[in-house]
Amino acid sequence: MKILHLSDTHLDRLGGPDADGADGTAALSCLLAELNHLRDLQAVVVTGDVADDGSREAYARAHRILSGYAGSRGAGVFYATGNHDDRSSFAEVLGSGHAQPETVYSGASGERAAASDLGGWRLITLDTLVPGKGYGRLDEGQLHWLRQLLATPARKGTILAFHHPPVALDVDVQLALGLENPGELAEAIRGTDVQLVLCGHFHLQILARLEQATVWVTPGVVSRIDLTARPGTERAVHGPSASLVHLGVPNGPLIHTLHARDPRMGATIYEADEDEMREVIDRLGPAGANQS
Ligand SMILES: [Fe+2]
Repeated sequence: MKILHLSDTHLDRLGGPDADGADGTAALSCLLAELNHLRDLQAVVVTGDVADDGSREAYARAHRILSGYAGSRGAGVFYATGNHDDRSSFAEVLGSGHAQPETVYSGASGERAAASDLGGWRLITLDTLVPGKGYGRLDEGQLHWLRQLLATPARKGTILAFHHPPVALDVDVQLALGLENPGELAEAIRGTDVQLVLCGHFHLQILARLEQATVWVTPGVVSRIDLTARPGTERAVHGPSASLVHLGVPNGPLIHTLHARDPRMGATIYEADEDEMREVIDRLGPAGANQS
């Protein structure tokens, strides 16, 4: 089975470049045009920050572009929420994020999680959005639902997909703005059939483990965070990328990163210095995140 894993498309209401020159619509269109020869896909999975501004127009455009691409390949599109997303606009346009879910979880604050069958593989999207914040969290209701679901194994195995990675590099902003409770997720999946965890949010690729599962953080569509920048600062550059995930193959999951030939590849979108990054962590992180 092949999944095209995308994340952080950051479309906005009007389309077109923002003040820094980042343009989610153009980046997504460029990427998918470059992936024209990719066939035989079972799913396109988008792990959050579908919209930059949480607007219905952005979700509608994302859905139009992605359904066109996936539909012509016989694949479904699955969406999870990220910190830039708005739950009500997301739900209005994309529902649970699955076209025909087997099960949906609806939380008291509008959290949506859902599970679908993909030829014997179970794909579960989770909602790690904490409104108004940059970090993510899985609340107890959703974890309980997940534990119940995982009590029965799927025929081939389970894939989780959500925005905030449960792992981080030794980078302050990642440590502060990732998933706040990875230990609880680890407990929930320990010894289950979860084989793969797909995330986004950091706009760069990371391979890691969580219990028995492989964790893959896919690079962003709208931009890539360039870690050759001075530690404590952040540099975002152009370069829309995606991941191709092969499951059920020898030595799988096999994951390959695909880069679009954007003529501006590597050109700077923005640079933030140490003070700006501390402010970001203060404003968007959990209380006291800058004190560690
Ligand atoms: Fe994000």
